[in-house]
Amino acid sequence: MSAPEAVLTARNVSIEYEVDPPVKAVRNVSLTLNRGEILGLAGESGCGKTTLAYGMNRLLKAPALMTDGEIVFHDRSGTDIDVVALDGDGLRAFRWDKISMVFQGAMNSLNPVIDVRAQIFDIFDTHRPGMSKKDKQARAEELLTLVGVDPSRLTSFPHELSGGMRQRMMIAMALALDPQVMVMDEPTTALDVVVQRGIIREIMRLRERLGFAVIFITHDLPMLIEISDRIAVMLQGEIVEQGTAEEIYRTPQHEYTKRLLSSFPSLTGERGDFVRTGSRASQEEIR
Ligand SMILES: Nc1ncnc2c1ncn2[C@@H]1O[C@H](COP(=O)(O)OP(=O)(O)OP(=O)(O)O)[C@@H](O)[C@H]1O
Ligand SMILES: [Mg+2]
Repeated sequence: MSAPEAVLTARNVSIEYEVDPPVKAVRNVSLTLNRGEILGLAGESGCGKTTLAYGMNRLLKAPALMTDGEIVFHDRSGTDIDVVALDGDGLRAFRWDKISMVFQGAMNSLNPVIDVRAQIFDIFDTHRPGMSKKDKQARAEELLTLVGVDPSRLTSFPHELSGGMRQRMMIAMALALDPQVMVMDEPTTALDVVVQRGIIREIMRLRERLGFAVIFITHDLPMLIEISDRIAVMLQGEIVEQGTAEEIYRTPQHEYTKRLLSSFPSLTGERGDFVRTGSRASQEEIR
C-alpha cells in the first residue's frame, strides 16, 4: 500500500471569538487529512468543531479570528495553497471548488422560495460563469442521481422534500464542483436512524466512487468508529486524542474518549453488533 498523501494540513491552529471575555474556541490544533480518507472529528457540544471547520474553509467572520497557525491545501495539481493567505479571486476559486462544506443544520437553510434547480444553478453561476444552461441542467440532474434523488425533484421547493431528501440536496450541492475535500458538519444528526443510515451509506459510496476526502463532524463517536479511517477527539478546543478508528475503538487513551464511547447508542442501534464484529466489519456492513 502506498503511503498516505495529505490533502489538507492544519498546524497549531488557534481561533478566538473576540468577545468580552474572549472565547478560545480552538487551541493549538494540528490535523492532517489524507487524500480520499474519512477523518472523524468528535467532541461534545461547544468543544469547537464547527469553529475549526470554518477555519479550514476560510469561512470565519468577526468576532471569530484565527490568531495563530497555518492551513495548507495540497492541491491534486501538485500546488500547495496557503489557505490563510487567500483573498479575493483566490478565495472564490478555493471554496466550493477545492473544499466544500455541508453546514450544520443545512437542510433547514435551503432558500424556501426558490426551487432546488435554481439553488444548484446559483453555484454554477458564481463559480462557472461560462457554463451553458444545457450543461447546468445536465450536471444538476447528474448530481441528484448521484445522491439518490430522482432528477424530477429539481423543480421541487424545499418544503416539498423530506428532511432526508433536503440533506441529500445539500450533499449534491457540496459535490457540484467536484471538490477534493468535503467537510460535513453533523450531516445526519437531525434525521431518524433509518434515514441517517441511508445517507451515511450514500456518503461512503460517493467517497469511493469520486475519491474526495471527508472531515465528518459529529458528537456521536460510536458512529464515527463505523465510518472513519482516522478519528480526532476534541475537548474544550483541543484535540486530545487522534488515531485510526480501530485504535480509538480498541485502545482509547483519554478518559474523555472512553466516556464518549460509552455515552451514545451506535448507528446500528445495537452496540452489541459492532462490539462483536469490530469497526472494520461494521464498515463493510454499512456499505
Ligand atoms: N459567534 C460567537 N461568539 C462567541 N462565542 C462563540 C460564537 N460562536 C461560537 N462560540 C463559542 O465557541 C465555542 C465553540 O463553538 P462551536 O460552535 O465551534 O462548537 P461545536 O463543537 O461545533 O458545538 P456543537 O456540537 O453544539 O455544534 C463555544 O464555546 C461557543 O459558545
Ligand atoms: Mg457545531
